[in-house]
Amino acid sequence: MLAKIGACEAFIMLRTVEWRENKFFIIEQNRLPAALVYIELRSVEEVAEAIQSMKVRGAPAIGAAAAAGVAIAAIHSSAQTYDELQRDIDAAVKIIRATRPTAANLFHGINRMLAALRASAGAPVSEIQARLLRTSYDLLEEDVEANRRMGCHGAALIPDGASVLTHCNAGGLATVGYGTALGVVRAAVEAGKRVHVYADETRPRLQGARLTTWELMRDGIPVTLIADNMAASLMRQGKIDCVITGADRIAANGDAANKIGTYSLAVLANAHGIPMYIAAPMSTVDLSIETGAGIPIEERSDKEMTHIEGVRIAPEGVNVYNPAFDVTPARLIAAIITEEGVLRPPYEESLAWAAKRVG
Ligand code: MRU
Repeated sequence: MLAKIGACEAFIMLRTVEWRENKFFIIEQNRLPAALVYIELRSVEEVAEAIQSMKVRGAPAIGAAAAAGVAIAAIHSSAQTYDELQRDIDAAVKIIRATRPTAANLFHGINRMLAALRASAGAPVSEIQARLLRTSYDLLEEDVEANRRMGCHGAALIPDGASVLTHCNAGGLATVGYGTALGVVRAAVEAGKRVHVYADETRPRLQGARLTTWELMRDGIPVTLIADNMAASLMRQGKIDCVITGADRIAANGDAANKIGTYSLAVLANAHGIPMYIAAPMSTVDLSIETGAGIPIEERSDKEMTHIEGVRIAPEGVNVYNPAFDVTPARLIAAIITEEGVLRPPYEESLAWAAKRVG
């Protein structure tokens, strides 16, 4: 919802994940768009299940939930010593790490918590528990702040009156709030530009149809739902001015893993002379991986392909291949929009520069 804040207009955002009096809540995204329901996650097992089953999804939201899972494990621990607490936290980390392998943010969130733990060595256990909880709270705020800054940088790339094509959901629902790709759209609208979004439905989990349309309609931003196979035709008709998606992990050379189908859009965009932008926080960048070939790609259950809403749509026994992500080569990406600015090729240099700034 666009609201007047001082002299400006800004979107008032839902929080996808939030702490309420030291209890951790998420929007149950599998229930959208039919119902907007918050559920409490009370244990590390519940956090891991929520990430795996995509009740919470989108790389930055997964990272925030993973950190919260570590905090929950810490505050529920009956440890009396640092070593006992560390054992409980290591066990929690092992469970969370095994949920979804592609999103760099999940590992970033966990690593931030482990760094806070190490920095607290020697302090009383109750104090360490409080510090870990504080770190998780801070991570949530930092994510929203990064999205806002990313939006400001990226909005300059969107012409007034533009039609933007996006894939999957890289909106408020994929982050703590505001969004990455949709954060750029929101910032452009807040700056007074008219923007129309085409949302790919995004088979097999339909994040575009269920989530992107829902959150844009809620904000009054014009959106048109299209099937995944319509992009080329729209581009040929001159109906798309740019493509903006999020990313789950970006390698040191700028290759970017995102929802399966993003690579096809990048190829199509380049074939039609349309800029392909990736919007992602620096917590998505993994400089330890040189190229996209090193990014682990999650494969999900056959049932996501053979069933829609529990109804079988493919013959019993059919062979299925269901990778959740693909990798777009850096050469197809016109710019990577981050909270540190709009990064351009060569990405080895611009990503390293931005990574130094965030420390
Ligand atoms: O499988 P999902 O729904 O978690 O995949 C989400 C995406 O691919 C998003 O584009 C990506 O995480 C970036 S979200 C800001």
